Amino acid sequence: MAESSGNPLQQPLADGIVPEEVVARTENRWVIIMAAMLAVMMAVIVITGVAGALHPSSNVEVIDPQTLHLGGEFAESNLGTAIEPDGSTTVRLIGEQYDFVPHCVILPAQTPVKFRLTSADVVHGFLLPDTNINTMVVPGFVAEVRTSFAQPGEYEMPCHEFCGLGHHAMWTRVSVVPKDQFTAQGPLERKRCAKQ
Ligand code: CUA
Repeated sequence: MAESSGNPLQQPLADGIVPEEVVARTENRWVIIMAAMLAVMMAVIVITGVAGALHPSSNVEVIDPQTLHLGGEFAESNLGTAIEPDGSTTVRLIGEQYDFVPHCVILPAQTPVKFRLTSADVVHGFLLPDTNINTMVVPGFVAEVRTSFAQPGEYEMPCHEFCGLGHHAMWTRVSVVPKDQFTAQGPLERKRCAKQ
């Protein structure tokens, strides 16, 4: 080391110190990887939104969560499945700690269905596996989501938003039946299928 020039820039780096150009190259690579991940995620959102109708519910209807039971759209007699004049169906549900009301709804297959949901207490989540239905249910707002079921079957709908100690047990069920079986049922029978 006798010929050491005394210029610190010319001296070899100590063990464990990474040269600046290596640091800059690594950081540039990570910036590119992060930008690519953001682009992929944005593309997933746009493509699933356009192709699969997967998008956040855009409804901004407001409702007073304190008076749901007193009348109006979410009074108890209006909950469950209703048939619209054009033959489609509308399901009205209330999420509350820790159940959806009604606990089970009946729907016809191959028919457009509109779910209208609201919460009586805290934020809940409403998810229908294998469909485009996935929404938050926020007190004070009405969430509206639409789908249709190609096949009859039983679909379980868990609450997927942590809402308290009983969250894991909060779920409801849709029983999708063939269209002719649905229309053959009486108005009360086809509203809901939960055992009273
Ligand atoms: Cu309701 Cu989790």
